[in-house]
Amino acid sequence: MHYLCTMFDTTQKIGILGGGQLGKMLCLAAANFDFKTYILDAQPDFPAGKVCTQFIPGNFNDYDDVMAFGREMDIITIEIEHVNTQALHDLEKMGKTVHPAPRALDLIKDKGLQKEFYHTHAIPTADFELFEDEQALLEAVQNGRWKLPFVQKTRSAGYDGKGVSILRNAADLEQKLLKGPCLAEKLVPVQTEIAVIAARNAQDEVAIFPAVEMDFHPEANLVEMLLCPAAISPLVAAQAEALAEQVIRQFDLCGLLAVEMFLTVEGDLLVNEVAPRPHNSGHHTIDSAITSQYEQHLRAICNLPLGATDQIQPAVMLNLLGAADFKGPAKYEGVEACLALPGVHLHLYSKALTSPFRKMGHVTITAPTLELAKERAEFVKNNLKVIA
Ligand SMILES: Nc1ncnc2c1ncn2[C@@H]1O[C@H](COP(=O)(O)OP(=O)(O)OP(=O)(O)O)[C@@H](O)[C@H]1O
Ligand SMILES: [Mg+2]
Repeated sequence: MHYLCTMFDTTQKIGILGGGQLGKMLCLAAANFDFKTYILDAQPDFPAGKVCTQFIPGNFNDYDDVMAFGREMDIITIEIEHVNTQALHDLEKMGKTVHPAPRALDLIKDKGLQKEFYHTHAIPTADFELFEDEQALLEAVQNGRWKLPFVQKTRSAGYDGKGVSILRNAADLEQKLLKGPCLAEKLVPVQTEIAVIAARNAQDEVAIFPAVEMDFHPEANLVEMLLCPAAISPLVAAQAEALAEQVIRQFDLCGLLAVEMFLTVEGDLLVNEVAPRPHNSGHHTIDSAITSQYEQHLRAICNLPLGATDQIQPAVMLNLLGAADFKGPAKYEGVEACLALPGVHLHLYSKALTSPFRKMGHVTITAPTLELAKERAEFVKNNLKVIA
């Protein structure tokens, strides 16, 4: 592989749309390469505000704000997909390097277009149908075309399970139907949920991180615990990695692509959804892999050689969610007892205020065996609390 057209240039300006925790961890990785990071988001007290080279206040959904920001940058990337992509298209036309490609972002940020993309490219995914609104979906249920149970998803602006409703019975149809343009999807009999993070650079080099297993918080519908390696056979792991490679190549994007998949009880892999950026399921790589997902994203968008993706030690990642009954200035309880265990890596997101189930940080627990990591993670889960 030749990188003659690449220059390692520490003075180039990397613009990131979004200043949340993913932006923060991206800035921290960039600092190791002495890269200069610029964040566009509403408020400088957001997580990335304190660690970037410069924070530029503005709205990443506003065309003019993104244009004004992007014009000053050499490379533009994102930490959230719900941004003004029209501005990104225009910046690309001006000759700016924009990763992920705006056309891929347009497909991904609309779950309807995303599902159609899988269908068109023969990427296995749960059967679905698009609807103009919830009334049209209801009619399809009434005339028997869609049968309970099934899953309804809003086409845009869903995240952390907020745009997803699992409808099991008639009462759910009355209470849990989400408003607006949506899709209905078959309820998959899931054996295991996994995520595979792929990276690709402009030389078309691709690298794949090992699959991780996602365990969900029953109430919050948020990933609570993530395990790497996933409890899947080597054959399924290889199939999942090949599928992730197929998907990133077909979206033709540079940077990271996190591919969420269902392993069905029949043993088939289905793509659930993708995220073209660093992902919750890759946090553990900071502490447990040869290259972190954040460094990998930078390597990929800067057209540098991709880093090795091997896992050094088994890892469990816990999202630190705000405790259910607390709202206000965040306090962290039980930290010392957890840090006393070997292999406990604490990452707080610098959010001043906690609220029920808000993502306040994460903890990665590395250990010589996954069993040991799980045991210690259980201790952390029971002892580390975010309260007010
Ligand atoms: N077709 C399906 N069959 C079974 N379970 C599903 C299906 N679609 C979604 N789910 C469940 O709902 C969760 C959230 O769905 P999805 O990932 O599409 O939404 P999201 O809001 O974008 O999630 P997040 O931001 O947390 O990744 C999935 O991880 C899975 O547990
Ligand atoms: Mg998801």
